[in-house]
Amino acid sequence: MRVLAISGSLRAGSYNTALARATRELAPAGVEIELYDGLGTLPPFDADSDGAAEPVAVRDLRRRIGAADAVLFVTPEYNGSIPGVLKNAVDWASRPHRDAALSGKTVAVAGASPGQYGAMWAQQDLRRVLGIAGARVIEGELAVPRAHEVFDDGRLTSSVIAERLQTHLAALVHQAVPPALAA
Ligand code: FNR
Repeated sequence: MRVLAISGSLRAGSYNTALARATRELAPAGVEIELYDGLGTLPPFDADSDGAAEPVAVRDLRRRIGAADAVLFVTPEYNGSIPGVLKNAVDWASRPHRDAALSGKTVAVAGASPGQYGAMWAQQDLRRVLGIAGARVIEGELAVPRAHEVFDDGRLTSSVIAERLQTHLAALVHQAVPPALAA
């Protein structure tokens, strides 16, 4: 089983990218985590440049989401909502309308912020947006508040957050397994 982790931050020292990276050591047995690193290469959404000759970066995003069994979105919060670059990626992955990479895909959200709420508003908005885009959004969020205290040089140092992340990932993987295989 393969999970694609998408961080909504382009910042080199990003807490959210660090959280996405931490999933690689916490995934259930048999689950491979791939980190998406193309967010900054996506052009702004433009329906006129979509179609058979979609931009290369867009094709890559759609292919990676399509090939994954599940997707974990890890979002910063900007002004109480999702960063524009992440919304842009979701918009690209929500088209073409009836055959979108996100359509029916099992997804979960998480988020980190130095503030006390752990990007909760961004996560709520992202869950809503992903649902409208056609994804199967699993219940629950993973909020990492006071992120500057739980990462050290890009490494997750909090066992409490590690445990929550592990539980969140396990729930995502469990819900991504087709019922026939889970039985
Ligand atoms: C922020 N930040 C922020 N934090 C928060 O908890 N709620 C918010 O509404 C905002 N708004 C906001 C707007 C803008 C434009 C910036 C640049 C930042 C702070 C933000 O959480 C912090 O910069 C994080 O470190 C960003 O995530 P990464 O890059 O560390 O993953």
